[in-house]
Formats: sequence, C-alpha cells, structure tokens
Amino acid sequence: MSMKRKKVITYGTFDLFHEGHYNILKRAKEYGDYLIVGVTGENYDIGRGKMSVHDSLAVRIDNVKKTGFADEIIVEEYLGQKISDIEKYDIDTFVIGDDWKGKFDHIARYCNLVYLERTQGVSSTMIRQEKFNKHRIGIIFDVLDENKIISETTQIGEFEVTAAYTDKDDLKKDFEKKYDFSNIYDSFDDFLGNCDIVFIRCGVDDRAGFIEKSIKSGKHVICDPPFSLSKEKQIRLFELAKENNVILIDNVKMVHIHVFNQLLWMTQGNLIGDILSFSCSVSKNDKSKENLLYDLLALTLCPMIKIMGQDYNSVDIQITKDGNEIEFASLDFKYNSGRVLINVGNNIRVRNQLEIVGTEGTIRVDGNWWRGNYFELDYPDSDNVEIYNTNYNGNGFKYLLKTMSNMLSNGRIVSTGVFPDESIKIVDILETVSKLEENQERRN
Ligand code: CTP
Repeated sequence: MSMKRKKVITYGTFDLFHEGHYNILKRAKEYGDYLIVGVTGENYDIGRGKMSVHDSLAVRIDNVKKTGFADEIIVEEYLGQKISDIEKYDIDTFVIGDDWKGKFDHIARYCNLVYLERTQGVSSTMIRQEKFNKHRIGIIFDVLDENKIISETTQIGEFEVTAAYTDKDDLKKDFEKKYDFSNIYDSFDDFLGNCDIVFIRCGVDDRAGFIEKSIKSGKHVICDPPFSLSKEKQIRLFELAKENNVILIDNVKMVHIHVFNQLLWMTQGNLIGDILSFSCSVSKNDKSKENLLYDLLALTLCPMIKIMGQDYNSVDIQITKDGNEIEFASLDFKYNSGRVLINVGNNIRVRNQLEIVGTEGTIRVDGNWWRGNYFELDYPDSDNVEIYNTNYNGNGFKYLLKTMSNMLSNGRIVSTGVFPDESIKIVDILETVSKLEENQERRN
C-alpha cells in the first residue's frame, strides 16, 4: 500500500531572492515530501500596499524554481486564498517565517502550522535599500497642504522626500512642525541641488515659472493641473521637458489607479455600448486657494477627455462670480455621439458624482469619483449592480509614483496617465473659460 505524500505549503514575495528565502524553502521541504510555494501576484501586493517590490512575478517564480526545493509553484492572488489552497491541495503542514508569529494561528484549525525562525540579518527591504539609490523628491509649496506626499512617498521604497521650498517665509515653521520635516531651503538653487524630482504644489499663476526653472535644471516635475491657463504655455512646457529629456507629469492620481483603467477599458472598449451622456460634478470649500475653480475644472475635464475624446463639436460655458473668484462653472459639450455636462462649484455646494450612460449600461460613482477607488456598473436588463473597486489607504499618490518609477527605469518621459495632448486640450478649454471670465470683468 502506497503511503500518502506529506504536503507542505509556504508563501512569500521572494523579491530580490536572498539567503533567508533559500533557508526557509530548504527547511520547509524537510517537513514533508512535496513542497508547494505560493508566490504573491503583482496585483495582490499592490492591493495590500506592498508597492516596493522590485522583481517581476516571473523573475520571483524563477528564483524559487532554481532552488530545486519547490515541487509546485502557485501564485497568491487574493486575501484569504491560503485557506482555499490548504483545502484545494490537501495540505498537511503550513510553514511561514516567525516574523508572522501569532498572525497565522487561525490556520492551525485546517492543518499543522509551523513558524520557522527567520535567517538573521537579511531581508528584501534591506537589499532594496542598499542596492538602489532612492529618487529624491523636493516639494515646492505655498499652502500648508502637501497632500500626503510625505506619507505616501514612504510607502514606495524607491522614493524619499529630501527637500522643500517656499517663498512664503511665514509657512516654513508651520510646515516643519506639521510634517516633522526640516530640510526647507532658503535658496531655490540649493533646493534644486537636493532633489531629482520636483513636486509643485502652489497656485496656478506660479506653476509654469517653477516648472520651467526645474526642467531647465534637469529635474523631473510633478505638478497639479493646470500648469498654466495658456495653451501656448502648456505646449511650450511639454516641449521644454522633451528637450531636456525629463518627465513632466500632471498630478492626477485617479488615472494611475487600477479601477480607473477598468472604467476606461469598459468605456473605450464599447462594453457599455455607445456613450449617450457623460456628467461629472465636483465642489470644494477652500477659501485659502486662489483660482481653485480652475484646478477643479482640470480634474473634471480629465476623465471627460480620456473617455469622450477631444473632438467635441461645441461647448457652451456659463460662469458665475463671487468677487474675484468664479464660484460656479457649468460646461455643456456636444459630441457627435453624446453630450457632456460638467458642473464645478468653488465654495458652492454641488454633489460630487460621475455618471456615464451608454446604450448598454450605465457607470456611476456617487461621491468622490476622483479618488478612483470604485465604480458601479448597471446593465438595464439585469437586477445586479456590478461593483468594481481598488482598496487602498491614503490618497493614491503612491500609484502615480509607481508609474513614475516605471517611467524612470524604462527611460520613458511621456506619461500615458494624462498624455501631453490631453493635458494641453484641458488647458485649451480652461483658457476659453478664463477669457470668458476676463470679458465678463471688462463688461462689468
Ligand atoms: N524569511 C526568512 N528570513 C529572512 C527573510 C525572509 O526566513 N531573513 C522568510 C519569511 O519569513 C517568509 C519567506 O521568507 O516566510 C518569504 O518572505 P518575504 O516576505 O518574501 O521576504 P522578506 O525578506 O521578509 O521581504 P520584505 O523585506 O519585503 O518584507
């Protein structure tokens, strides 16, 4: 009578394969006759916030294979899969390093559980820190709102914030205190000397000047959109970035988040049929920011341009002002295929929502659609509403950084999140709004 094989399973990311990985696989194998190794999938790691993994899944699998200890390699794709795997592969023993001690105790109900001592003095994190130079980010700010960039950056191993600059002296102390960050430079040149990527967070009137200076010093630039309210200037800035072979990227986080690409795929791939209507609205209450309405409009025009394209036939714009600022703007675009309505409120409350009605389905986000964390899909002939989501902590900036990291390692300077021509088209529309604003002022 043949004896049943004793099956062992263990899991890990196995990034930058090292001695600790080798040792645990070797010892895990000794607990049975057949070893299954679960290697984390890229989506799973990104979804649980492990954004610093360097090697591709294929490389990590290959490294596990090369040890000769694994009889079978599987991919770990979702939270909770370990329990299904134990049942599916009829596992006798589950092995994991003791850095997880206590965290997997519930597994003991399904099979033997063994925590093995970690190999001291080595980890993927350590190797990443030693092997790769970090990209240094410098922040230019004129409000006390760095938009989580410091906390988001620490989640991606390859980046660190090394410098900050403001020409508003009174903000320096508050910034230092609020973010526990003291490398705030008095001289702009010193600031530029201490970073490779410049993140610009200031009012629209100052953005183009800072972008130009940074690019001319060979720095990559991340800047809130719009970079200016002039189409010509926007074109010039992208040309300048190209001439200097640096990245110039719109700080629109949504387009770098998985679920937005699903939405884009569905709308562009005709999965909700022909688009009949696109409506999108947003409002914010923040009196500290000048020209906030243009920032909100740029944010709103971004999904419109990406989903509906740039070839609209006409646009009807209405604005109302409160003192010097536009407090409400409504833009009504006519496309051959359908119609777009955009409503933006600056200190006027408008319900935040996005709705795309197609002949075969409707996509909807109720609430903060620009976070890009979920959307609903409603098919007319079905009772079910499908929900697509990406769960993440923070504000999503880390996904933009992940894109940047790919661009830097591939030597690519053009962002596919918001393409330069899309960014330019958005500013073209904003320029029309700002001319209308000027004309109204002249008339009053
Ligand atoms: N492991 C180990 N000794 C080490 C490092 C890892 O025994 N020095 C074990 C872990 O406990 C786990 C498996 O190897 O069971 C896979 O670990 P993984 O998380 O991929 O490796 P780390 O080096 O811990 O990675 P990171 O630094 O990214 O957390």
